[in-house]
This record gives sequence, structure tokens and C-alpha cells, in this order.
Amino acid sequence: MDYSSDYRTIRIETELSLAHAGAASPGQECEMLFERVFGMDRLQAFMRQSERPGPEKLDALLALLKERCSGTPIQYVLGEAYFCGRRLFVDSRVLIPRPETEELVELARQLAGEILERRGSKDAAERPLRVLDLCTGSGAIACAMAAAFPGAEISASDISEDALGLASRNFAAFPNIRALRSDLFEGFPPEPFDLVLSNPPYIPSETVEALEASVKDCEPRLALDGGEDGLGIVRRILAEAPGFMAPGAPLLMEIGDDQGEAARLEAERAGFAGARVRQDLRGRDRMLLCFRSR
Ligand SMILES: C[S@@+](CC[C@H](N)C(=O)[O-])C[C@H]1O[C@@H](n2cnc3c(N)ncnc32)[C@H](O)[C@@H]1O
Repeated sequence: MDYSSDYRTIRIETELSLAHAGAASPGQECEMLFERVFGMDRLQAFMRQSERPGPEKLDALLALLKERCSGTPIQYVLGEAYFCGRRLFVDSRVLIPRPETEELVELARQLAGEILERRGSKDAAERPLRVLDLCTGSGAIACAMAAAFPGAEISASDISEDALGLASRNFAAFPNIRALRSDLFEGFPPEPFDLVLSNPPYIPSETVEALEASVKDCEPRLALDGGEDGLGIVRRILAEAPGFMAPGAPLLMEIGDDQGEAARLEAERAGFAGARVRQDLRGRDRMLLCFRSR
């Protein structure tokens, strides 16, 4: 394509380049690029297909396309991702939030709702619900919970200063989120949380090496690598969390789909009650739910 190309030609060639570069949904990514650069949705692009963009606009599209075709995920190219219906800033400092984690949020909302219902409205007004999102990354889980429970106090922590730098942009919309840099619970004040949530790194180190390049080479290693068997951080969370949880409080964690039984046994070993594995919509083991003993 060149400066004489109309939108139709540009669209076709952009989709072809994306397909050649291995994009799973070239049409959808092309629409995202058109929206960003030309401010056009699919229908507008169709209605104006015989028109031409100005040269600066075409150059802007080509620059983004080049970055995408070199293997950078579209979310990093555009600097945004959608999670639970909300637009979040993302860049290479944080993991791109995944749809599986939206299912964790759905269950977390249910659990938070049940806690508030059990407490009754008087107690809830006196003491806000305290939720912790451990290993927050972009802050996706914390933001979704803060939006659903504006009266709750949400703490969001990560060991990575870089990740928190990005997350703070997402937290700006939520006065009820407090961000903390911490190696898991290290240095936390001993306040009991009512609900602890986490999507920690849980991929075994060897498996990280075998991941596709767009993940292994673009997303932070710290966000992926869970140590030799993948459960290193999960085990540490289970060991440390009880000291920071209210009696009976739930802990909900995302896990790998082959880690269900091992994670459940670890939770029992760490003294949690009611440890069980929850499946995602595709029936894969995806979440560990357990409760601090009373
Ligand atoms: C899988 S990412 C999850 C990001 C986000 N919660 C999400 O669901 O999209 C894991 C995050 O854990 C953080 N992390 C790794 N080790 C940690 C530790 N020891 N203490 C706190 N955070 C840690 C990483 O920096 C990364 O942001």
C-alpha cells in the first residue's frame, strides 16, 4: 500500500499482513488499528472505502502494523486491553489480562456479595469489606472489584515497581484502591482481609521456555514463572495468607489447568478449610478456592 491507496486497499493489505504475521483474528485486529488511527469503526471504513487517508495517518498505521507484525501483541501495540468490560492501560511491564481471569472475578464478586449479605447492612457500613488482590499486575482484578464494590477497601500489591507504575494509571479511576509494593505479604500491616484474590505466576519454569514467542518474549517473566513445578508462589501464598485473613475468609487463586489436585492438597496442608478446585467455562481446573479456618 502507498499514499495513493484507498481505505479498502489498506484494509485488505493490513489484514493480509496480520494474517501472515500469525495473528489469530486479523479482521478484528485490523478493525482495532483502523479505530485507533483513522477513528473509524467497521461500518465507517466500509462507507468510506474509496476515500484515502492523509499521508501522516497512513504512516501512523504502518508504524503500528510493523510493530504488531514483528510479534508484539496487539494489546501492547495499542497500549490497552479489555477486562470485565473495562478498558485498561497495558504495556510490556504487565501481563495482558486473560479472559480466564474474568471468571475468577465473577466468582470473587459472588463471594464478596455473600460476605456482605451475611454481615448485614449495619456492620457493612461500619467496617468496609477489605479485599486484597495479590500479584495485581495491571490491576485488572482490583479494578473489576473496585467497580463492583465502590464501598469496599481494595488493596492491590505486586513485587514489581514497574507493574505498579502502570497499574497506578488504571487505579486513578478508583479512590477505593490502595497500591502496595510488596513481596507477597512482606511488610503488610497485620489487618485481616475479608477476601484474598490472586492470579499469581504459576507456569513451571521449563514450560515458560516452550511458550509461544508472543508470550515468552513479550510478557514479563516475573508474571509467568512459578518456579520448578509452577506452584512455588502458590505455596508461599498459602503459607503466608492465614496471618492476614479474617477467620473463615475465602482465598481464591487462579491456577494452571493441570495443577488442581496438587494445589488443593497444598491448601489442605497449609491448614485451609473447604479447599476445592473450580472449573472454568470450558471445564478446565482453573481456580483454587479455600477458607481460613475459624
Ligand atoms: C500472572 S501475573 C497477574 C497479573 C494480574 N493479576 C492479572 O490477572 O492480569 C502475576 C503478577 O505477579 C507478580 N509477582 C510475581 N512474584 C511476586 C511476588 N513474590 N510478590 C508479589 N507479586 C509478585 C508479577 O510481577 C505479576 O505482575
